[in-house]
Amino acid sequence: MLPQEFILQVIQANPIESVAGSYVQLTRTGSKLKCKCPFHPDGTPSCVFYPENNSFYCFGCHVGGSVITFVQNIESVSFMEATKMLAERAGLTLPADDRSSDEIRRQENFRRRLLSLNRSAAKFYFEQLTGADKRGLLYLKNRELKPEIIRKYGLGYAGDQWDSLCRAMLAEGYTEDELIAANLCTRSAKNGGVYDRFRNRVMFPIFDLKGSVIAFGGRTVEPDGEPKYLNSSDTPVFRKGANLFSMNLAKKSQSKRLILAEGYMDVIAMFQGGFENVVASLGTALTPDQCRLIRNQRFEEVIVSYDSDAAGRNAAVKAINLLRAEGLQVRILRVENAKDPDEFLKKFGPAEFRRLLENAEDAVSFLLDRCKEGIDISEIGSKNIALQKAVKLLAAIENKLERGSYISKVAKEYEINRTELEEAVADALGQNRRKQHRQERQAVIQSPMIRDTVNPDANGHRREAKAEKMILCYLFRNPEALPEIRARLQPEEFVTALNRKIYTAFISCADRGLPPEQAVYSEDFSAEESGYIAGIPAEYDQVELSGQSVSDSIRLLKQHREFELPAETLSDEEFSAQFSRLAETKRGGSFL
Ligand code: UTP
Ligand code: MN
Repeated sequence: MLPQEFILQVIQANPIESVAGSYVQLTRTGSKLKCKCPFHPDGTPSCVFYPENNSFYCFGCHVGGSVITFVQNIESVSFMEATKMLAERAGLTLPADDRSSDEIRRQENFRRRLLSLNRSAAKFYFEQLTGADKRGLLYLKNRELKPEIIRKYGLGYAGDQWDSLCRAMLAEGYTEDELIAANLCTRSAKNGGVYDRFRNRVMFPIFDLKGSVIAFGGRTVEPDGEPKYLNSSDTPVFRKGANLFSMNLAKKSQSKRLILAEGYMDVIAMFQGGFENVVASLGTALTPDQCRLIRNQRFEEVIVSYDSDAAGRNAAVKAINLLRAEGLQVRILRVENAKDPDEFLKKFGPAEFRRLLENAEDAVSFLLDRCKEGIDISEIGSKNIALQKAVKLLAAIENKLERGSYISKVAKEYEINRTELEEAVADALGQNRRKQHRQERQAVIQSPMIRDTVNPDANGHRREAKAEKMILCYLFRNPEALPEIRARLQPEEFVTALNRKIYTAFISCADRGLPPEQAVYSEDFSAEESGYIAGIPAEYDQVELSGQSVSDSIRLLKQHREFELPAETLSDEEFSAQFSRLAETKRGGSFL
């Protein structure tokens, strides 16, 4: 557990607009900022940031909370990790001695051990290149890699023996458990011993942005070795989908453009050819996390340079959509007369490759071309099928001017009337918007506002839950009112558990001289609960709350309590007092 005061310090040192701004494109509206929510598919900017109290809330998916919650969600890390990342970002040192830090320190030590093991393993593999078995070095030479590139990438070789890495690493003092956790070795089911996972392979270490070795890819040197490439699975220091091969080098290039390739060898061949701003995903299809990583490294444009076969072109379509969703410009490189960039560079050299890069097609043209791929558009039926696909694509272009120029282009290509095409696109646009509205309405209907899953007690006690929320919201805005409200309303008088917990947290904060919103920045609340809490002030954003409405809310809660208390727990006097009050209220006709 980190002390509340430290968490507060971390929050204050990290304005949410600048933290969020490094992940998403924010636009300002008055005192607030908005963006399309990074946590759900979002057509409208429904994620709102409130710099005044360093919080955010998405009106679409109801994620929300502090700057810490934001990092927790966007980086998929724990509360503790997010706090640490932000502390680091602001240059704050973590308080050393606290209760749960033992476990954290243990995990961190373990991770540090694995990183050190990976580095030792990379060094071992590198040395094996020049060992007795020269097949690795020979393989890399055959693929025309220069010695300085082999060194730059730290390439290596895992030979034929079943335990040479194991033995070397155990001799250096690493344990079998560490070797297995790093995914370098496997335990034999037969005899319980450990053996090397990578054998007869040239080894590609994978570095993170800081230059630590976090994983490996290994390509077989045997003509029919299976699988062709073997990669590390996820480990405590490696998440495949969140890293890109060679980003540690690419980030050093001054370019705003990044080349995205399919394979390790493509990347290395390009780098050797003088194109240093190049990365590849790691044996998986591109992920949203990887797109975010690209954006976070300040790249603005990505040139997708996948293989020229059908698989590569299909993968390119998926990559385009993901990259564009992250706000990146996308162009597609057409590799001609070669199966991939690696082979192209070998056949035609860097100057020709530069020409390919310069001529890379913009993503929309690429997608439009695909609509009529393999279709004879002189035949009217086929032409209409292709056109329908094109219209969909055109309607998805958000910028009006851009859309206009592509409409002209398509009209010319298909030899049809521009106005008619424009009308068809307008229809599709209308359909898209209606569909989006429907989805957003659906999201609201299913949202916890209607059926509260975070605070389930609210389902049977809507009015009370609403009253409680109003009180909490009032306290958010007027922390100075807490002593007075506290004197009138005990936590036990809250009807719903979560609101009661929040109120209690407010009180304990006040006792320590902290403003109420600090209560929510603690591990006591789950991510959903944090979202709920952040949603409280957001819900009443446009509403003036008076002391009177608070008094009414308190009265409602007190009445509820009186009428709900089971009669057998009351003394005779209490019972008759309650009974006469109940009768009076009923006569008055109104409950509140
Ligand atoms: P390719 O099969 O296109 O490999 O896979 P390549 O880069 O052309 O390899 P070479 O030139 O034959 O050596 C592209 C990428 O897909 C992943 C690897 O990351 C590879 O670089 N892959 C491929 C795997 O992870 N496992 C495999 O078995 C094959
Ligand atoms: Mn390839």
